[in-house]
Amino acid sequence: MQNGSIEIKAEATGFGAEVGGVDLAGEISEEVFAELQAAVIRHKVLVFRDQHLDDESHFAFAQRFGPLEGHINRSTRHGELPKLQVFGNVGDDGKPTGVHPEKGTLVWHTDKSYVATPSLFTILRSPSVAREGGHTLFADMTRAYEALTPGKVEQLEGLRAVHDWKRSREKSDERAATADEIAAAPPVDHPVIRTHPETEARAIYIGNHASHILDWELGAGEALLAELEAHATQEQFIYRHRWRDNDVLMWDNRCTMHCVTDYDAAIERRVVHRAVVQGEVPF
Ligand SMILES: [Fe+2]
Repeated sequence: MQNGSIEIKAEATGFGAEVGGVDLAGEISEEVFAELQAAVIRHKVLVFRDQHLDDESHFAFAQRFGPLEGHINRSTRHGELPKLQVFGNVGDDGKPTGVHPEKGTLVWHTDKSYVATPSLFTILRSPSVAREGGHTLFADMTRAYEALTPGKVEQLEGLRAVHDWKRSREKSDERAATADEIAAAPPVDHPVIRTHPETEARAIYIGNHASHILDWELGAGEALLAELEAHATQEQFIYRHRWRDNDVLMWDNRCTMHCVTDYDAAIERRVVHRAVVQGEVPF
């Protein structure tokens, strides 16, 4: 299908939008591509229904937004396209393994905040959708920031959070980080309030990879991060995506957090393929 102009149906809250009139596996003109870029910046989360991407076309579409990144966890890397990641619980026999592929996805986070240049956009499709559970929830971190009291904003000014893959694994009860992973992703720190480079809007930048506050006593930093997460994940800041077959989701990691609602990994078959576009140093 040749792509003409796209149709955007925004959520009533202004957070999240469904995009129609585009075939992500087809030819996408510069003009339509620019509309998609503007849409993801504006709505933060985009949903594309009835798409028929395979790994190659998924990779090709994602790559138009910038260089893609491999995952620190090598076991998730796609065999032929190592910069795509595959998370799933379906065994070679086609049956659910009962093992959750990545428990870190069940807790609020923003992708790859444990590196110096965290992910810009993530583009996700789900070749096998859970029938119960497995929704993806998003939190609008710009609106969460705007709802902070002036006193809280003042407290947060200039604070930096340490983001740490090793600690993140411990917190999400996943297998311990390997020595190679720790060497590849040593702790980094980012501002707790970051400014979006395109919109200049400020947003809270935290999540499970954030371990503590730089130069603060550990417990006090953990408590502040927990308080901010509880604030940012109130119902009024959330968009819930209930997956249908052939959906593609795309989001801006600079101003959102996300997590997956739990599902029974012994019953449901859930597989997602993910591409992440490299971002910039947060400021
Ligand atoms: Fe994620």
